Amino acid sequence: MQKVAVITGAASGIGRGLAERFAAEGMKVVLADVEEESLAKLDADLKAEGATVLAIKTDVSNADAVENLAVQTLDAFGAVHILCNNAGVVCSRPIWEHTLADWEWVLGVNLWGVIHGIRAFVPRMLAQGDACHIVNTASILGLVGGSGEGIYKVSKHGVVVLSETLADELAQKEANIQVHVLCPGWVRTGILDSARNRPDTLQNQKVEAPPSQETLAGSRNARTEMEAGMSPKEVAAHVYNAIQTGTFYIHTHPEHKAWVRERMERILE
Ligand SMILES: NC(=O)c1ccc[n+]([C@@H]2O[C@H](COP(=O)([O-])OP(=O)(O)OC[C@H]3O[C@@H](n4cnc5c(N)ncnc54)[C@H](O)[C@@H]3O)[C@@H](O)[C@H]2O)c1
Repeated sequence: MQKVAVITGAASGIGRGLAERFAAEGMKVVLADVEEESLAKLDADLKAEGATVLAIKTDVSNADAVENLAVQTLDAFGAVHILCNNAGVVCSRPIWEHTLADWEWVLGVNLWGVIHGIRAFVPRMLAQGDACHIVNTASILGLVGGSGEGIYKVSKHGVVVLSETLADELAQKEANIQVHVLCPGWVRTGILDSARNRPDTLQNQKVEAPPSQETLAGSRNARTEMEAGMSPKEVAAHVYNAIQTGTFYIHTHPEHKAWVRERMERILE
């Protein structure tokens, strides 16, 4: 039976890498994103390669939209086997300078998007009973502290602990669903241009002063670091392998494990 994979934030970067890999593995893929043009392009590209694809414009911060994604997936393909809660955005300035709109936007996509995905898909996966996988995209910044990317880090730490809880609770229930949390370092994607998808309702009202301190994603070096980062294709290979091996924490950049160890040691001290 052909497996069905649903990917949010599929139209660009890591999501596109996952979609291409799953399609190449012979799966049916459901592409969910807010960015219509790039979503249509990926849909056409994958279909041209012979893949079975369904593209659904979806704002993951909206519970009804994610519920609709689940309904349409089941209507079209009758099952779901892999859910990648991957859509994400970043917005950077010192944490006390963020507006409420900044908090609502970033937490809405990065954390509520994952929450909506779990609420819509887990009950359907449980009812289905087939072997299923949920891959939540966090970040190495979901495992460390320090300055910069405050809202983003809050959201990604939330995704990590949400994934840990989900995995343990599903295991206690002996459910046929494995959970994975993806924690990459720099990957060459469009994440530094996240504002392209910021909704009008969550734009900042006044012309903002520039951040009073430099933050990582806002820094001149960020684009250079990103250009030296991993390709989405390589990240997708890590994810595919983790699904095969049942690996929970997906580390794409093992050199960053030292940061996690250092944080844990500070906590324990
Ligand atoms: N690029 C990196 O260095 C890096 C590192 C660690 C984690 N991540 C995470 O990887 C994930 C994918 O990001 P990326 O780096 O590929 O960036 P990207 O900007 O290339 O892709 C993100 C996708 O999410 C979509 N999106 C934005 N808001 C959305 C919404 N409300 N609903 C649905 N889709 C929405 C965008 O249209 C885009 O297609 C994010 O969760 C990000 O936080 C990225």
